[in-house]
Amino acid sequence: METKLSTTEIIETEAKYFAKTFNRQPVVWERGTGSRLWDKDGKEYLDFFSGHAVMNLGYGHPKQQAAMQAQLEKCAHTGNLYYLESQVALAKALVEKSFGDKVLFSNSGAEIVELAIKLARKWARKERPQENQYEIITFRDAFHGRTYGALSATGQDKYHQGIDPMLPGFKHVTLNNFAGTASAITNKTCAIMIEPVQGEGGIHQGTKKFMQDLRDLCDRNKLLLIFDEIQCGLGRTGCLHAYEHFEVVPDVLLLGKPLGGGLPLSALVTRGDVAVALAVGDHGSTFGGNPVAAAGGNALLTELTATGFLDKVKTTGVYLGGQLRQLAGEFKQLVIEVRGIGMMWGMELKDHGPSAVRNALEQGLVINCTADNVLRFLPALTITAQEVDYAVLIMRKVLQAILKEQ
Ligand SMILES: Cc1ncc(COP(=O)(O)O)c(C=O)c1O
Repeated sequence: METKLSTTEIIETEAKYFAKTFNRQPVVWERGTGSRLWDKDGKEYLDFFSGHAVMNLGYGHPKQQAAMQAQLEKCAHTGNLYYLESQVALAKALVEKSFGDKVLFSNSGAEIVELAIKLARKWARKERPQENQYEIITFRDAFHGRTYGALSATGQDKYHQGIDPMLPGFKHVTLNNFAGTASAITNKTCAIMIEPVQGEGGIHQGTKKFMQDLRDLCDRNKLLLIFDEIQCGLGRTGCLHAYEHFEVVPDVLLLGKPLGGGLPLSALVTRGDVAVALAVGDHGSTFGGNPVAAAGGNALLTELTATGFLDKVKTTGVYLGGQLRQLAGEFKQLVIEVRGIGMMWGMELKDHGPSAVRNALEQGLVINCTADNVLRFLPALTITAQEVDYAVLIMRKVLQAILKEQ
């Protein structure tokens, strides 16, 4: 429905009709192109958040948009009891561009995490029918989604408060603590699930050694190693898949966010010998693998794997990290650390994270704050060095303003 409401009226109407579960920024988006967004009042912004790491090719990428529009004109949905060409093409591309043999689709990240939990338990029972192995080891500060299984896997107490008891069968250990992880294994453990670069938890990554040791630990104990690359996958680290960066091959890979070109789409990629643990009827979803979203996914994979694309992501990502570190050096009183990889960076402030986000927005830069005071930079992978310079220019003003306030 077309509305003629002003920005203020939309914000007031939202407050009246929505139960409040988001602290929204006071802006109503109208449209986007590349890494630029315009609000309803015509103000232009540079976007370094990409709608929670979703718009990896930027807004309105011509080839991705055309592919999605073409599918939309044919049909928006028919359901999973029939064959869908764009969905099959995406499964083939995901297999060809990964370690996997088989793919399953769902809608959101949380849903594909649920499927991974089911798969791990079913696989363990198929492999060792005598044992009842259901425990999954996950990591503190990781984020796996908002459904009960995914939240139970999420090692952050703040998300469990008031909705407990959480589902049994999850043990949370500390990232990069190998001895702690190994000692959490019992005769009930079936899998280890890790977010290789924690996004929501404040941009923390596993070390290469830790990830390789995890692989070895899983092999020795016959556990599935599940990588949740819903945020850090599909080019975000500068590799197509984050696991390539660590030179570790997981047994199960979870993808989401950018996969559907802005529409909900998630995927589980695994080997054939693991996938056989699931039988007809074990998984289903009305919308999972929607053909319009799958058309967006095919265009995304084509772009990401085009010659030179990821090399440029790596180069610009190193530049972004370097510029943020230089800025941090200028504001040592405010900044604890800059850390990240590819197009996924965090600047941890001592304080004032949320007000820094608001100030940046006022100056035309869209960023986010997570884990209390970590400013999160997740630009489109197509961002240019000039756009990085402009973002850093605004961030310098933001940090100067915080200094003045103190
Ligand atoms: C690593 C990771 N896993 C899972 C999820 C959940 O995805 P969704 O919000 O699509 O359910 C997220 C969302 O931020 C995520 O970052």
